[in-house]
Amino acid sequence: MKFSIAVAGKGGTGKTTLAALVVRSLRELGVRPILAVDADPNSNLADALGIAPGKPLAEIREQGSSPEGSPASGVGRARAVDDEIHRAIAEAEGFDLITMGRPEGPRCYCYVNNLLRKSLDDLSKNYAAVVLDNEAGMEHLSRRTTNNVDVLVAVMNPALPAVRAAKRVVTLCRELPIRIGRQAILVNRVGPAEAESLIAGELAGLDVERLADVPQDDELERAGAMGRDVFSVSDESPAVIAVQGVIRQLCATLSVATE
Ligand SMILES: Nc1ncnc2c1ncn2[C@@H]1O[C@H](COP(=O)(O)OP(=O)(O)OP(=O)(O)O)[C@@H](O)[C@H]1O
Ligand SMILES: [Mg+2]
Repeated sequence: MKFSIAVAGKGGTGKTTLAALVVRSLRELGVRPILAVDADPNSNLADALGIAPGKPLAEIREQGSSPEGSPASGVGRARAVDDEIHRAIAEAEGFDLITMGRPEGPRCYCYVNNLLRKSLDDLSKNYAAVVLDNEAGMEHLSRRTTNNVDVLVAVMNPALPAVRAAKRVVTLCRELPIRIGRQAILVNRVGPAEAESLIAGELAGLDVERLADVPQDDELERAGAMGRDVFSVSDESPAVIAVQGVIRQLCATLSVATE
């Protein structure tokens, strides 16, 4: 069964790092091939995964419109965009990466935008798992660039603004006509002295699944600061172990075959 997971949440809470750790965990569990999707215009998932990104999809989108901004003719254009998307994929051992890049400019690219979304849907069928790293904020949810996922993880740090932002993600997803199989909250960078009562109090009554916390991890933080990818972090790193546990549990409950 194909498994798709998306991370969302407030800026700087660790979405990209966690998305990369999810790719690492899935690969280690033998769930292959994986498609990583960098849906943040300020792309940096490639760095976290340690690979060179392909051509951003947004550039293909620009070329997919005529100079007047209207789409060129139907079937041929659709095929050309599909071909370009396939060429935009960066390949690595066990996973591929596709980068969305900057969103469209002042002109309307709705036609090609929809085409891209459909192409991505088609493309996803070739993979055992799809991992989507979103931009901060919630606009992408309203634009429905995050749609049709099995698990949407609202990431937060143990600090009130991030907890409230994650709550808003959960509420918005319930209101929007997007298909999300399961919603969950994940608290990242939890230190020994974090105020659990604050988090629990804020989340009370929200009725949302909470995944296992991911601890503050100094080795992971150093790797991020030095621009090193998540594969360079040791197997004993507490965040690596925690994300592995989360993914193992999700795969088990969603009947995703692992090795
Ligand atoms: N569990 C953790 N322990 C220690 N450091 C972490 C942890 N998770 C993330 N970080 C660090 O936190 C910083 C922000 O992480 P990251 O870039 O993944 O966040 P983001 O939510 O993707 O940010 P943005 O909203 O800008 O896209 C990075 O320096 C990263 O290395
Ligand atoms: Mg990010």
